[in-house]
Amino acid sequence: MAATQRYSNVSIALHWLIAVLIIAAFILGNIMVDMRISPTKLKYFSYHKWLGVTVLAFVAVRLISRLMSKAPPYPDNMGKAQTYLANGTHILLYVLMFAVPLSGYFYTLAAGYPVVYLGLFELPVLIAPNPEIKDSLKELHEILNKVMFVLVLLHIAAALKHHFYDKDGLLNRMRPRI
Ligand code: HEM
Repeated sequence: MAATQRYSNVSIALHWLIAVLIIAAFILGNIMVDMRISPTKLKYFSYHKWLGVTVLAFVAVRLISRLMSKAPPYPDNMGKAQTYLANGTHILLYVLMFAVPLSGYFYTLAAGYPVVYLGLFELPVLIAPNPEIKDSLKELHEILNKVMFVLVLLHIAAALKHHFYDKDGLLNRMRPRI
């Protein structure tokens, strides 16, 4: 496949790095909320927050890099409807990659806890503790996670369909060069 038909190396690296971090934050989030209160639970909460903040930072870099370089064109076999669906899913995924960690960040602040990244430095306290919006932000974080979960499944299903059914080489555009 021609080099121009692949994403840039930076985009490919960020795609897989962010994917791993999101999956880790998602799994850890689900595990920690079901745990009984203990020092381990509190430790997991911290790890979860650090993972989420790291996602946010990488997604910001990724969005800038995506806006600065064009994505390679879709394969010819993709019709207009499929192209719109793919672009729509990608835009929604970008929105969620910001909205999910931001909702967790603001929930944590509203609950009155500062976020101390890697236990080293305190991140900006953008809102004062607010018990009135705390529960809504927690619910928002959960709902956005569920929506992102469904979209990610759709995204993976589409990639696999292109690879195994259409056999149009679409997956190669995001394959790391090793
Ligand atoms: C990609 C980033 C993130 C993902 C995928 C993610 C995912 C999740 C998931 C799946 C849960 C469990 C929800 C439930 O079913 O109850 C959760 C809970 C939570 N998340 Fe995140 N999260 C992310 C980022 C963040 C960030 C940046 C923070 C804060 C700095 C944060 C703070 C929290 C807190 C405090 C809870 C526990 C809510 C409770 O009190 O029950 N999250 N997260």
